[in-house]
Amino acid sequence: MKTALLMILLGLCLADDEISNKRFPDEFMFGVSTSAYQIEGAWNEDDKSESIWDHMVHTNPDFIADRTNGDVACDSYHKFDEDLAILKETGVNHYRFSLSWTRILPTGYPDNINVAAVKYYKNVINKLKENGIEPVVTIYHWDLPQNFQDLQGFVNDSISDWFAEYARVCFSMFGDDVKYWITINEPQQVCTGGYGYGYFPPTIKSEALLEYQCVHNLLKAHAKAWHIYDDEFRSKQNGKVAITLDTSAYLPASDSDEDKEAAERIQQFTIGIYANPIFNGDWPEVVKTRVAQRSIAEGRSQSRLIEFTQEEIDFIKGTHDFFGLNVYTGYLVESLGYDPPVSEPPSKWQDQAVNTYQPSTWETTSTQYTKVVPWSVRSLLNWIKNHYDSPKIMITENGYPSSGNDKDDRRIYYIKGYLSNIRDAMEQDGVDVFGYTVWSIMDNFEWASGYTQKFGLYEVDFNSENRTRRARGSASFYKKVIETRCLVDNCI
Ligand code: BGC
Repeated sequence: MKTALLMILLGLCLADDEISNKRFPDEFMFGVSTSAYQIEGAWNEDDKSESIWDHMVHTNPDFIADRTNGDVACDSYHKFDEDLAILKETGVNHYRFSLSWTRILPTGYPDNINVAAVKYYKNVINKLKENGIEPVVTIYHWDLPQNFQDLQGFVNDSISDWFAEYARVCFSMFGDDVKYWITINEPQQVCTGGYGYGYFPPTIKSEALLEYQCVHNLLKAHAKAWHIYDDEFRSKQNGKVAITLDTSAYLPASDSDEDKEAAERIQQFTIGIYANPIFNGDWPEVVKTRVAQRSIAEGRSQSRLIEFTQEEIDFIKGTHDFFGLNVYTGYLVESLGYDPPVSEPPSKWQDQAVNTYQPSTWETTSTQYTKVVPWSVRSLLNWIKNHYDSPKIMITENGYPSSGNDKDDRRIYYIKGYLSNIRDAMEQDGVDVFGYTVWSIMDNFEWASGYTQKFGLYEVDFNSENRTRRARGSASFYKKVIETRCLVDNCI
């Protein structure tokens, strides 16, 4: 542990002889991921209605770094055959993509199922299966129908029913051919991004208030969808349903008890707030206690973190068939050494009361916050194993952003380093990881960064009408890993 901490602090690079030489099991799933709004385009075709992202890019173009939008994106609605060709070329075992709610249900409600949308997704799923690629389908990846946002979106209590009805349609339309479902992608980005710090649509800034209300509703939405599957579809369809949570790995900056507690606390505030209700039941104790105490000190009569009823606790607990994890980077964490005084409005930072940082010696990428910290994933995987009773974990996203002008060697280094640490976690620590998914098979619309951040194993030429896809070096690297199941030559 001491050596690992030292390496992390110094930001030492992994040498090739430190890369795991253990073969990945034959059944280990290597895949790639995308999401509907980021690749499909055709934003208003075949009756598709407006999502919160359509609404944002059209009403406030300055919200996007390069003033672009996803109107056409990779044009995957018209070019799925080209996507299929590169998926086959890479030899992936699975393809994770998302369904567009406003394409399938233009009113948001199941009163009018869009035949063209169903045909499109059935074709995607069938062609994947014909080619031996397992579809991993995300039901919701951030593109809420705008008409639901007009009704306050995730802070309207009805959201869980709206979502559950939509999920039922997805299971019934596609479930015969889908064995892996993700209900909601990265709830933290939905709630903290959308209703806390407001860096994503609907850009509401209500940290630690509406943000927590969103978490409460979102967990119920997920749980309702899981129960619908369990009650109505599982026996016929035999699939697995999970939520995908995102977090950075938070590592104590020193061996002091205070820093260790601080790292534990922020991990609970970022991932535990979602995972604990689902895996163990109820909010994590530290989150529940701190927010309740601070709420009372602020003069409120109840906690800003709405308490679950016993019935809700029982309903949400156990709604998992595996653990979906998106992880990109890691941080060091220090205790603040004091409890911040209460203030109005409250803040998440005060609730968490920790300081996080990434040393300047750590390798950076094209985004400020995504530093390359492959070691950190191993401790995060162990944290998950220890807190949630050794769940089966699928890493549903991990990837490297670049400006696109550089050689691709750093993306290869990144993927190799993360995979090596994942393999070590499996082999040496007994963490049950059964899949790994690169974000992304190709460059796509990177939300508020537009097309400035490129995550693709394949480059996409957004200036050409054809949206030509061209392999980067990392595509052939990943292909070889998938073929050989090895990160180095002659693995064992
Ligand atoms: C999201 C993706 C996004 C990726 C890279 C994840 O947070 O699920 O939609 O493109 O990270 O930023």
